[in-house]
Amino acid sequence: MTTFRDGLLAGKVAFVAGGTSGINLGIAKRFAQLGASVAVCGRDPEKAQRAAEAIGGRALGLSADVRDFGAIRGALETAVDRFGKLDIVVAGAAGNFLAPALGMSANAFKTVVDIDLLGTFNTLRACHDLLKLPGASLIAITAGQADQAMALQIHACAAKAGVNQVVRTLAIEWGPDVRVNGISPGPIAGTEGMDRLAPMAGMREASESRIPMKRWGEIEEIAEAAVFLCSPAAAYITGTILDVDGGSSVGDAGRMDMAKGIG
Ligand code: COA
Ligand code: NAP
Repeated sequence: MTTFRDGLLAGKVAFVAGGTSGINLGIAKRFAQLGASVAVCGRDPEKAQRAAEAIGGRALGLSADVRDFGAIRGALETAVDRFGKLDIVVAGAAGNFLAPALGMSANAFKTVVDIDLLGTFNTLRACHDLLKLPGASLIAITAGQADQAMALQIHACAAKAGVNQVVRTLAIEWGPDVRVNGISPGPIAGTEGMDRLAPMAGMREASESRIPMKRWGEIEEIAEAAVFLCSPAAAYITGTILDVDGGSSVGDAGRMDMAKGIG
């Protein structure tokens, strides 16, 4: 993809929580391609190391659980020790599984809320006094479940709805020096998230038929949106949730296929 000019993020330092695989790793790679120094962080230290090697350059792979404020603060401080400052933070760590409310223990519900919602708060709260101001840019990775109730997803629906309000509240409290936005990806191909949410044959096709753009998205398409939100082109954008979902959040396009038979 050649949508942004080389060197756009030269001199910037980015920390990506949950950046050791999937969508967030794609974001971290794109930041690095455009010149940023990047630290990625997940629970598994070996996975974090592999991610840093995949990013290349001076990338740093760190280990911390976002549910533990002290641990994520420590990882952020390590990144600042290495790179000297912090300009961009992505709060992207998440956990998910399909389960009906009646098949979910209180701890199962709490686990996802703690990773997604508390983890987002912890990451953004812990980074604030490390940020280079003004001009810092924070991004939370949310999901359509925040607005669209979804069976078997009560934990993620509750958690991501909270994430959206964390974004909006921090945008108010931390403006004008820090911009805080969310990205809400649609179903993204080749990710752990979709392996978990659409595990059976035929589910992808059924899902794609209901999306206005008629396809799942690519990791790189989310990464481009993240670059945009961190770039000067988004200088007046804060407190927004950017849907990068092929129109999924607008409505169900499945009826258009039915209409072809009618029309
Ligand atoms: N259905 C119902 N409950 C489930 C479940 C499932 N499929 N998977 C886990 N749980 C429950 C566990 O039974 C446990 O509850 P209990 O103590 O009452 O038995 C609770 O959730 C916590 O499970 P645990 O395995 O201890 O959590 P963890 O903190 O080690 O891992 C998960 C968190 C469960 C979210 C794990 O799947 C994970 O690490 N996911 C990260 C990757 C991911 O989900 N990627 C997609 C991002 S969208
Ligand atoms: P993924 O590959 O499973 O990535 C999850 C990342 O979070 C990994 O780096 C993981 O590393 C880390 N992580 C998980 N629990 C953590 C914890 N407690 N503390 C610290 N790090 C933790 O997932 P993905 O599918 O790419 O999803 C990435 C983000 O996009 C998530 O926020 C998800 O909700 C959102 N999203 C995804 C889709 C999709 O189609 N996939 C759609 C909408 C929104 P460790 O396991 O080593 O900790």
